[in-house]
Amino acid sequence: MTSKRRKSTLKPALDTDTAFSQRLMHWFDRARRDLPWRRTRDPWAIWVSEVMLQQTRVEAVRAAFERFVARYPTPESFANASDDALMLAWKGLGYYRRARLLRDGARVVVRDHRGAVPQDADKLAELPGVGAYTRAAVASIAFDLRIAAVDGNVERVLARHLALRDDVDAAVGKRAIRAAADERLDHDRPGDHNQAMMELGATVCTPQSPRCDQCPLAADCRGLAQGIVMTLPRKKPPRAPTLVKARVAVVRQAGGVLALRIPDGEPNAGQWELPGPGALVSVEENEFSARTRSRCRAGIEVGPVLAEVRHAITHHKITVVAHAGALRSRNAGSLRAQEPTDPDVPWTTISRKVFAAMHESESD
Ligand code: ADE
Repeated sequence: MTSKRRKSTLKPALDTDTAFSQRLMHWFDRARRDLPWRRTRDPWAIWVSEVMLQQTRVEAVRAAFERFVARYPTPESFANASDDALMLAWKGLGYYRRARLLRDGARVVVRDHRGAVPQDADKLAELPGVGAYTRAAVASIAFDLRIAAVDGNVERVLARHLALRDDVDAAVGKRAIRAAADERLDHDRPGDHNQAMMELGATVCTPQSPRCDQCPLAADCRGLAQGIVMTLPRKKPPRAPTLVKARVAVVRQAGGVLALRIPDGEPNAGQWELPGPGALVSVEENEFSARTRSRCRAGIEVGPVLAEVRHAITHHKITVVAHAGALRSRNAGSLRAQEPTDPDVPWTTISRKVFAAMHESESD
């Protein structure tokens, strides 16, 4: 007996679903949101939208996307963007590293593909910044290639539909999700299928308050039948946070404050931050000057505490103590005066929190 036959004999109501994708497509055709990147088949615009949508809400992406593709309508135009222009174009989206990787990808498209986004899934995967998800999304949405895209939303929908009890981050769980995604893919409309799965995860099969009564997949959702929807997908608990006590100096100069552009290779490279040994480095007050010198190429002494803010980066829980500081070396080294309130300066979130806390304490 073939495996296909065995499946259909044993579990007729649950299986190899043309029905799954039909119901999904029917739902999507009614429920799809009208989003700017859904009005184009331009692979560059679709690539841009998929990068923007990683870790950023649809509403925040909407305006940024239209601005971005108007300013950079082709990979070539963005390949030539300066760091400052890149930061400006990515404003409001956060995670500037994604923008830098997108520019790296655009440069390879110009160098190796005459400026045209390759229509080949393997060649897409070779582009910097294009992982399995982005490759599948661009290949299916722009080129109708039959590749299932799996992001966090899709993973949740599938884990629930399968009642998958394995850890979705472990190899066995990943394989089960991948197999289920491939098996269910609609071969006639792969791009719409992928977008529908994401949309269902984002709007119906949500993490905390799934609306199973509105779900086109509820009839054969095993998680729902077994009453375990809210416990899925399973993941092992996050690792214990590392506590960091970081320090920065506020050195006033020329109407602004001294700032460091975060060097390449560090988290948040290219953004501006207040001088210090770095956001993930714990230091005592009396070590500050010595620990800051090589990174900023300037000597800074710190004095009274002006503000204290908290921030989290991945598994780091950071308390940042901001001190009044003074420059003790002859010149400012790598530091430049920047205006805290200038909306065009890509300050790090920590720096913005420090400015806000100082502003609050000043107005108390
Ligand atoms: N999330 C990421 N990409 C998406 C898309 N194309 N449609 C809906 N949600 C998304």
